[in-house]
Amino acid sequence: MNFSTNIPVVTIDGPAASGKGTLAAALAAALGFHLLDSGIFYRMVGWKALEGGVSLDDEAALARLAAGLQPRFDGETIWLDGREVTLALRRQEVGTAASKVAALAAVRAALFQAQRAARRAPGLVADGRDMGTVVFPDAVCKIFITAGVEARAQRRHKQLIEKGLPSNISTLLQEIGERDARDAGRDVAPLKAAPGALEIDTTKLDAATVLAQGLAYCRARLER
Ligand code: DC
Repeated sequence: MNFSTNIPVVTIDGPAASGKGTLAAALAAALGFHLLDSGIFYRMVGWKALEGGVSLDDEAALARLAAGLQPRFDGETIWLDGREVTLALRRQEVGTAASKVAALAAVRAALFQAQRAARRAPGLVADGRDMGTVVFPDAVCKIFITAGVEARAQRRHKQLIEKGLPSNISTLLQEIGERDARDAGRDVAPLKAAPGALEIDTTKLDAATVLAQGLAYCRARLER
């Protein structure tokens, strides 16, 4: 018998740099739940493809990379193929590669079980693009985050600079726009709000306000 479906899941989906990661981490801490950053899996496949010179439209080769991922997580630090890749995975070109490989059905299928396996007691907060629609359709609480593209580009710029990574605001604006179009326009598991999800537009909201709204909504649903 599969008991994992009794374990509560909170899903947070939304476009690039909308504040999902910040909200997910804060909600997980507040609820005492585990955290799944599902984008990291697509970033790992993108990183491996760029490192290994694998074409970003070679679906069979990319699916093999996805199926063979053996990351090691040590707190916030991520190791892949014997290398520490925590910062490398956050690079803008890796995000773009991730979005390209994420459009391929075989890659998504290869990563599906690893994401589902993150559902562990006492609960899980999962962020991504298809958490509420495809990976955890039975989640008790679903949130869809949006924000204007300008606000998102500014936020991502700040994050990249803070991490000491290269960033250019006009390139970011263009790349984020292209990434949104690709993530929302693909045939498999496109970015979209799950039916019944709470939608929060974070363009003019600070992180504390978004957390307060999300937490109140989730607590009410978890107590039902
Ligand atoms: O959330 P992120 O920026 O780290 O995600 C990187 C890319 O991975 C994103 O552009 C699309 C893809 N992705 C996805 O298709 N499905 C998910 N659940 C998470 C990420």
